[in-house]
Amino acid sequence: MKNEEMIQFRKKHFLPTATLYHKNPMQIVKAQGEYVWDSEGKKYLDAIGGIVCISAGHNHPKIKRALMKMLDEDTPQHTSTLYLNQASIDLAGRLLEESPEGLDRVAFTNSGSEANDLAFLAARQATGETMIMNLRHGYHGGTAGTLAQCGHGTWRFRAQPVAQATSALEPNCYRCPFGKVPDSCSLECAKNIETTIQTTTHGKIAAMIVEPVMGVGGFITPPDEYFKVAASIVHNYGGKFITDEVQTGAGRCGGEFLLTRELGIDADMVTMAKGFGNGAAIGAVLMKTEIAQSMSGKAYFNTFAADPFPAIQAKLTMDVIQEEGLIENAKVMGKVLKDGLTQMMKSHSLIGDVRGRGLMVGVELVKDRVSKAPATEECIRFMDECQERGLLLGKGGLMGNVIRIAPPLSIGREQVDFMLKVMDESLHALK
Ligand SMILES: Cc1ncc(COP(=O)(O)O)c(C=O)c1O
Repeated sequence: MKNEEMIQFRKKHFLPTATLYHKNPMQIVKAQGEYVWDSEGKKYLDAIGGIVCISAGHNHPKIKRALMKMLDEDTPQHTSTLYLNQASIDLAGRLLEESPEGLDRVAFTNSGSEANDLAFLAARQATGETMIMNLRHGYHGGTAGTLAQCGHGTWRFRAQPVAQATSALEPNCYRCPFGKVPDSCSLECAKNIETTIQTTTHGKIAAMIVEPVMGVGGFITPPDEYFKVAASIVHNYGGKFITDEVQTGAGRCGGEFLLTRELGIDADMVTMAKGFGNGAAIGAVLMKTEIAQSMSGKAYFNTFAADPFPAIQAKLTMDVIQEEGLIENAKVMGKVLKDGLTQMMKSHSLIGDVRGRGLMVGVELVKDRVSKAPATEECIRFMDECQERGLLLGKGGLMGNVIRIAPPLSIGREQVDFMLKVMDESLHALK
């Protein structure tokens, strides 16, 4: 089907909520390593990986061979969790090696939303409380339970089910909700968690969920010290601290496989998906034994969780990330990218802020640096200019003015230089 026909089909038969990137949306028909190709044969450097999902690289040869072998050997695609399945055990064992201390139970799901829903259920069961706290500008998924914890009006529906949810103010150093600047603040954002509990709840909560770098929110990067204060307040009020590593996990942030462990965050549960499966639909929750045990005597069932194909893909993704030193590479390449973008600020006043960790880099575009008025329309045009030049980027932020860069962790120096060159040219083209 031609692109235009496909667009018309989607308009007629898909939900009107289904959006497409770019003025000229393309069909991606081939993918290899850090690159994708459209139906006209044009090659692009994929610096967003679908949507922050490609960690080990598209169609990595080791993973591809293993999956082809599984098909050749008639390995069952589906077993359900009611039968023993070696791939799920291998994956769990490997994941537990990367788990923060004390989190020694693992549950698998098909997506990040389901992982977060399960974490909410477990926290509610363990505490006997129902209130979940989130952050404004946060995003945790599209299911009823997770959407209730969404900090973006654009994602919320009038008909959304009512749930016990309350929001603390976001730890955003570029647009501090308290009007502070990082060097002289007193972590008012973390302290706001306590005020929010005291003013909007009966004094106890089931949990707080935070993204260590806020993905959909535009790669908002809280200060490291935020998490210690935040977790301690949540624990003082009886709640469980959940880190949502759906975007930050799988080594993307360039320190450890999980940012929770790298930063020493005192989390009771960690959720993940996206880059964990390198394109396979798989999510996971790591939790403390005492939380898992509070669910004893009840059934929690997930038909496809850790079926052989997604489980083997996630396990091999973890192996590739380790064997090829991709976490260290994310750190080194992320720094080159961030330094290059920070340098670019000198010639492009449209760039208001460059932030992120490892290969999770956000570029906030503003009309001018004093008013910080969001450059929303420019952001769309900038992405199209980059697409034209063979570079795919993502977008985020409440006002849609933050460029999200999250390439495969295997990206090399030449590719980072290419990205910087294309972004520089595209910014010039906007003028
Ligand atoms: C931080 C975060 N958590 C959860 C989710 C939901 O994951 P999924 O779309 O796999 O359900 C997303 C998706 O974008 C996410 O960015």
